[in-house]
Amino acid sequence: MEPSPIRNFAIVAHVDHGKSTLADRLLETTGAIDKRHIRPQFLDSNPIERERGITIKLAPVRMEFLWSETESGLKIIAPQSQPQPEPASPRLPGYHHAIFNLIDTPGHVDFSYEVNRSLAACEGAVLLVDATQGVQAQTLAHAKLAQKLGLVIIPAINKIDASSADVPAALGQLSSLLDQNPQNILLVSAKTGQGVTGLIKAVIDRVPPPQITAFPTRALIFNSSYDPHQGVIAWVRVKEGEIATRTPIKFLATQSIATAQEVGIFTPSRKRVSHLSSGEVGYVVTSLKEPSQVSVGDTITVLSPPHQSNQTQLPGYSPITPVVYIGLYPVDGTQLKPLTDALAKLKLSDSSLQYFPESSPALGNGFRVGLLGVLHADIVQERLEREFGLELIASAPSVTYEIDTTTGKIKITSAKDLPDPSTVKSINEPLISLSIFVPQEYLGPIIQLCQSRRATAVNIEYLQKITHLTYLMPFSELIRQFYDQLKSASAGFATLDYEFTGFVPADLVKLDILIAGERIDVLSQIVPRQNVLRIARKMVENLKKAITRHQFEISLQAAIGGKIVAREDIKAFRKDVTAKLYGGDQTRKDKLLEKQKKGKTRLKRVGKINLPQDALLAILKLD
Ligand code: GTP
Repeated sequence: MEPSPIRNFAIVAHVDHGKSTLADRLLETTGAIDKRHIRPQFLDSNPIERERGITIKLAPVRMEFLWSETESGLKIIAPQSQPQPEPASPRLPGYHHAIFNLIDTPGHVDFSYEVNRSLAACEGAVLLVDATQGVQAQTLAHAKLAQKLGLVIIPAINKIDASSADVPAALGQLSSLLDQNPQNILLVSAKTGQGVTGLIKAVIDRVPPPQITAFPTRALIFNSSYDPHQGVIAWVRVKEGEIATRTPIKFLATQSIATAQEVGIFTPSRKRVSHLSSGEVGYVVTSLKEPSQVSVGDTITVLSPPHQSNQTQLPGYSPITPVVYIGLYPVDGTQLKPLTDALAKLKLSDSSLQYFPESSPALGNGFRVGLLGVLHADIVQERLEREFGLELIASAPSVTYEIDTTTGKIKITSAKDLPDPSTVKSINEPLISLSIFVPQEYLGPIIQLCQSRRATAVNIEYLQKITHLTYLMPFSELIRQFYDQLKSASAGFATLDYEFTGFVPADLVKLDILIAGERIDVLSQIVPRQNVLRIARKMVENLKKAITRHQFEISLQAAIGGKIVAREDIKAFRKDVTAKLYGGDQTRKDKLLEKQKKGKTRLKRVGKINLPQDALLAILKLD
């Protein structure tokens, strides 16, 4: 039998090393997308991805072409645009048939779960390193993950065209990281296309074809999306058997039953086919309207014919645990129901999202939302607002604490939930193993920064021109602008990755904030006792800057238990934003009033005080 022409692979790399641009060149070279229609970072389809220039979602795409080896390299004839996905035999003598299922992945640490799921659908991974940056933190993290999952890694150095490229250094670092001969490492420019056909050949030669099993049917759901007309759409890697249109299907974890209304492939837009077979990547339209009936990591089997059904689940993904929590509240209380629906739908395309209702005396009814990091929190809030037309106010991200109480251990995700102090035996905080890659010249400031954040050094390793530092650090330190400070201490060059190591007891106290004499629950926080006075002072200063003057004086107090430890006051002020315009022209006046009106939409009225979003984030800006 002819070996399968299918190659399933992902591109993984540190942020900005050129994954999406390389995907563009692959789409172009294999003829999947007409050169005239390619726009940069073609697979980044979400508007937020395009505006911020970052990938936040995995994106699969299928490329199908004929190739033949020539003296100067590889000749590609493209595309076949087969209406059917089954491997057709080459039409031209001397040419071979290839089907690539590529998954473009995000690079940022907060979205590693997307990478994990993408890799589980593949047999190989192209590990890309930017020649102008060298090996960075997520290069190592993704390489380790791909190795753990048993994938073949194709290492490649990108941006070799750039004037600041240091190819020998990047080669040295990558070969020692992977313990590979530098000759196995490819050199490419995703921008100019140099080396891209060589990379295509390496994918054909080095990535093993998928194992093809006729039946029974099992497909792994690696992602899902929601369509208002078609319901939940499961994105699958068919491991065994096949799923044809209009077949009754079953989801083994949720036990839901549905009919595959449509099956298809990603080109990258959805393209209907008659069936998806073992080894292929595609989608299944389920018509299920209830998002919770389909969960990422679940297995789909067919119900008929019965002998093709398999009731044993494929190994899914380890359940994901959120690491930070924010409170999300609608600015307008009547938007609670739309927020509930929006979260359920967003969870379909972002399975790491977790949420449960919560109520805050200060902010009213909303949700506590568990996320994978501060950038993830920011993106989720923005997606909810833009894609679902909601207006939200968020409390600052908090880590989870494990509390040893007189009646047993509990976990809390917000300082406001800390039980009565008389019942608390100890507060345990999450600790991370922090991995930092930094060019040697910035080592001093980075070590200083880590020491100022209660971190203890574990290891230091020198690669060519780059140092790899490992520290143990409380996670709460990381979410308070550690990343920004790391970047500014290293002219943007240092990068980080982290892993949880567990909970450790620490000497922590709860700091409360009172505004106009009223305790604002969402501003409470758990802080190290050794820094509490500094933090208390900084908190009231930050709040003073964030809250605009009202028509009455407002006191801002920080308290431990009943004891006030810091105070600032906001003087009374009658605000007339147009006063300084001396009766100037009306349009300018109107514009200014309009701007002020817009700014107000992000205010939440707490008692008599208008609390802006910035005040709630004051907790983050303490260092
Ligand atoms: P994330 O998905 O956000 O992690 O980024 P990415 O890895 O997909 O990187 P992307 O393709 O968005 O490229 C990042 C930047 O590098 C863009 O400005 C690209 O134009 C540029 N770039 C990518 N490949 C090359 C290359 O080969 N040469 C040069 N000079 N620039 C490149």
